[in-house]
Amino acid sequence: MEKEQLKEEVKEFWDKNTCGTFLTEEEKFTKAYFEDIEEKRYEIHPEVFSFAQFSRFYGKKILEVGIGAGTDFIQWVRSGTEAYGIDLTPEAIEHVKMRLNLYGLEAKEIKVGDAENLDYSDNTFDLVYSFGVIHHSPDTIKALEEIIRVLKPGGMAKIMVYHRNSLLAYFFWIKHALLKFRPWKSVAWILWHYMESLGTKAYSVKEMKQILAKYQLEDVKVVPIYTYYDRLERFNWFMRKTASCISSILGRDKVGWFLTIQFIKK
Ligand SMILES: C[S@@+](CC[C@H](N)C(=O)[O-])C[C@H]1O[C@@H](n2cnc3c(N)ncnc32)[C@H](O)[C@@H]1O
Repeated sequence: MEKEQLKEEVKEFWDKNTCGTFLTEEEKFTKAYFEDIEEKRYEIHPEVFSFAQFSRFYGKKILEVGIGAGTDFIQWVRSGTEAYGIDLTPEAIEHVKMRLNLYGLEAKEIKVGDAENLDYSDNTFDLVYSFGVIHHSPDTIKALEEIIRVLKPGGMAKIMVYHRNSLLAYFFWIKHALLKFRPWKSVAWILWHYMESLGTKAYSVKEMKQILAKYQLEDVKVVPIYTYYDRLERFNWFMRKTASCISSILGRDKVGWFLTIQFIKK
């Protein structure tokens, strides 16, 4: 499939499924709706706070790429950053505009945009943050290069992509390959076809470090985070116990689904 056609599919998927909104049954665009999404996101993913460190960037110029329903984006605004946000889908932008309005908050700019072609000049931002986004974009490397391009020298990127060597990816493979009698299908193939929008990718730590080594970066960190998904928390006691035993053997710090990436542009 052509990259542009795939991007249309990705856009269509996320326009119908704004990230995190499945967490609530409250009436759309009410305060209860947004607060329920926020409460549940951070109950499930408290690790977002230690990774993003929102309040450290007070007064800084930041860009969030792929804002979704804006749960992290509103933290940047509340933390006193000069916050810019983009997303591929009009529905995400509508969510974030309504959300900021409800609290009387203002961002510097929120607009529809493409991670692969950022509409900002070189060396613009102190921080670029993108959580769970660029692995959905057909040209993930182009999106990464765009993030680096718009960062100021000395600026920091904080990115999360999915981790291929994670418990969740293995469980997903068992469900969609092994139990469907096609064990020859790779983890990458299964994630591409079954994980959220079509074309989702995941990376190993080694692979991501090799990609990042091509750019002028320093203080590069690539660290998996063991998540709610790897713990199989939505499943029964037996499944949770199985996940816990496997992760103890393999090492929890090695098999998390979220691959966090942090670096400084030289
Ligand atoms: C899993 S959601 C994550 C949203 C948000 N960062 C969060 O953590 O809740 C993925 C988001 O990436 C956006 N996205 C996918 N490809 C994109 C692209 N090329 N440019 C901008 N946003 C993109 C989707 O529209 C969707 O809102």
